[in-house]
Amino acid sequence: MNHTQDMLDFLYACPTCFHTVHAVETRLEENGYERLEEKNRWKLEEGGKYYVTRNQASIIAFRIPRKDYTGYMIGASHSDSPSLKIKENPELKGHGYTKLNVEKYGGAILSGWLDRPLSAAGRVMVKEGNRIVSKLYCSEEDLFVIPSLAIHMNRKTNEGMNWNVQTDLCPLMAVDENTDFLSIVSEDLRVRKEDIIGHDLFLYVREKGRVIGRHKDMILAAHIDDLMCGYGDLVGFLNSKDGDSVPVLAIFDNEETGSLSAQGADSTFLADTLAAINDGCGRDAMANRTAIAESFMVSADNAHAVHPNHPEKADPVNQPHMNAGIVIKYNANQHYTSDALSAAVFRMICEKAGASCQVFTNRSDMLGGSTLGNLSERHVSLHTVDIGLPQLAMHSCMETAGTKDTEDLIQAMQVFFSSSVAAEKDDFEVKVSE
Ligand code: CO
Repeated sequence: MNHTQDMLDFLYACPTCFHTVHAVETRLEENGYERLEEKNRWKLEEGGKYYVTRNQASIIAFRIPRKDYTGYMIGASHSDSPSLKIKENPELKGHGYTKLNVEKYGGAILSGWLDRPLSAAGRVMVKEGNRIVSKLYCSEEDLFVIPSLAIHMNRKTNEGMNWNVQTDLCPLMAVDENTDFLSIVSEDLRVRKEDIIGHDLFLYVREKGRVIGRHKDMILAAHIDDLMCGYGDLVGFLNSKDGDSVPVLAIFDNEETGSLSAQGADSTFLADTLAAINDGCGRDAMANRTAIAESFMVSADNAHAVHPNHPEKADPVNQPHMNAGIVIKYNANQHYTSDALSAAVFRMICEKAGASCQVFTNRSDMLGGSTLGNLSERHVSLHTVDIGLPQLAMHSCMETAGTKDTEDLIQAMQVFFSSSVAAEKDDFEVKVSE
């Protein structure tokens, strides 16, 4: 099965981190996974399939093998993408217009947001007596546009713009001064506006992702970073077989703002969940430590393919190409966690899976980005490799990637989640259950 269309549908169903968690939850439920709550003490069964969420924005799923387990095989990715977040008191009125007051979320490329149909999605807190009920929201209408300034009014527009979010990027909502954004939301949700007492709402682009190119070798879609990895990890996880370890699928929010939140990769969510799994299987605390020593993490966040117009921005040798497989990411200063051992383990997994892999390093005179892996190490320290799928235009609101690479990731993660690792002094063994 080629997963391209299914992945594009998944991406479109995930305009915000909350929708990502909801979409993953739905697929887990369809496959017999049971939701657990962090507030409860867990009693887990051999052969059991479970998941837990934190703040609706991060999710961890896992399976308990039919025998005592050796370690955790963790595949991590992120649920959020750069965007424009709608502020409190969201209207800006004047000159016969109503605009929306927004701020930047993460390191967005801003120019892409102009002159295209936009809408709003996220979650809304609704008062019902003493209860605060969380409602997912995604408007199905083209609600806004951020219009460019005509070239006649800025002759320098093609010489590079210095976008100011407060002045240049306010989305236009109506050609009048009395449109009220939260009234639209409350009408859509069929609740009273005064009962909306909290919201996390973001802009999203309305175009569906699509396959492009005569040879249908590329996709153009929103949120390729990092839902392409989230999707590949999820499908690989669902397809994997039981082995000696606990397979753990982790999708974290807030990677784009540095992962530090109650539910990000730099929170206690993963560490707490592993400890709760250990406890829920009736094991003592020390057993969790020994399990972590025989565990492995794949931190999956997309990578830069060599740019067709700017090949000089890539390392002279290590230049990932779209449709050439999974990218192992290296950085000597540990912005990426990959080292000799973790990359070797991952290469062995790819070989067993028949998946192609390639290598990314930054140019030595460029700083580059960072990701989840090294921040997660603060809370659960274990052998980790940083990988991603090659893409272009990272952090644009529409990004480009290859149509083949997701298949490699699915194959590799299916083998990974079916495997366990065994440490023998300084050596390592990768065991794949057949
Ligand atoms: Co990313």
